[in-house]
Amino acid sequence: MRRKIVAGNWKLNTTLQEGVKLALSLNELVGKGVPENVQVIVAPPFTHLTEVRKVIGNKTGLAAQNCSAQKSGAFTGEVSAEMIKSAGAGYVIVGHSERRNYFNESDLDLSSKVINAIESGLQPIFCCGEKLHEREKSIYTEVIKKQVHLGLFDLDAEHFKKVIIAYEPVWAIGTGKNATPEQAQEIHQYIRHLIEEQYNSDMADNTTILYGGSCKPSNAREIFSKDDVDGGLIGGASLSADDFYSIINSF
Ligand code: PGA
Repeated sequence: MRRKIVAGNWKLNTTLQEGVKLALSLNELVGKGVPENVQVIVAPPFTHLTEVRKVIGNKTGLAAQNCSAQKSGAFTGEVSAEMIKSAGAGYVIVGHSERRNYFNESDLDLSSKVINAIESGLQPIFCCGEKLHEREKSIYTEVIKKQVHLGLFDLDAEHFKKVIIAYEPVWAIGTGKNATPEQAQEIHQYIRHLIEEQYNSDMADNTTILYGGSCKPSNAREIFSKDDVDGGLIGGASLSADDFYSIINSF
């Protein structure tokens, strides 16, 4: 059975103290139980990783929101996948649309990040998704195909097994306007089809594909009920422990 995941992307929010408080609140709720086969993950800012690791239980996963495309050396301000792993994280978000669009991260950069992450023992949560004008022009499948091919399909099968994918339509992120469950299902199924073409049907069946973009307690149940949707990457709603826990319990 495919693993379900609910991951909280805190983005550029919370001081260290606020982040630890949020993690403590979440930990208390998660301690009451989460649905079977659901992995909870939190992705705080880099500065919070070690402290958040100390307060979340062993069952909750820890992710960074980005990693360097470089391994080490004279790259001031960068944080490598190996450093993230050594801080106690098991996951890293790669290719979030905010990184692609505001920081000009290219498909080539993202491919290097994915490889570095996996070689350092992290599971990448690889994001893809089309912009509004690409959806309106009905070229969204081509956009996603290109992102997935260039970012991920250089990996051999052993490495690809570590990949988690998040479909996040850019027009749905932080806008309050989520994709409909049917729109999410269409793309998740399409991504699974791409994986089957590149690898095989087992790989397609076993890859966890998350939905992200204005996912909240009021819509999570309906979105997660779709066959090919294995959970969510949650931004705004992950900043409230109660809302995030309610989304976790939407399966
Ligand atoms: P949102 O963000 O839930 O605030 O729309 C999702 C994301 O960017 O991962």
